[in-house]
Amino acid sequence: MMYQGLLAEHIQNPRNVGSIDRPSGVGNVRNPICDDRMQLTLRIEGEKIIEARFKVYGCAPTIATGSVLTEMIAGRTIDEALQISRHQVSDALGGLPGARLHCAALAVEALDSAILDWRRRGCS
Ligand code: FES
Repeated sequence: MMYQGLLAEHIQNPRNVGSIDRPSGVGNVRNPICDDRMQLTLRIEGEKIIEARFKVYGCAPTIATGSVLTEMIAGRTIDEALQISRHQVSDALGGLPGARLHCAALAVEALDSAILDWRRRGCS
């Protein structure tokens, strides 16, 4: 499938790939149906996300959703980040094809999971 616009740009040129050393929180999620996986690591100071990095094992749109999510959450507070929806992630890519909206859902799940991990660690 040929992707266009912002979606294609993030697929070809993903931002913030990798993982943060000694992160504040880590989210590892997997879609049980397609088996795509995403890891998101966060550096949080106070209540603010300073940096986010991601790794994906999966489809091209999932790479794009991880990439754009890391840009969307950098500099946001935890409360702001928790309000990001899969539709907002999709919109930030110019709109995912309907069948690929679940790729954006995986990115949002990774974010929720990383924030939960940060809370479990005592928010430090
Ligand atoms: Fe399932 Fe991308 S195809 S998350």
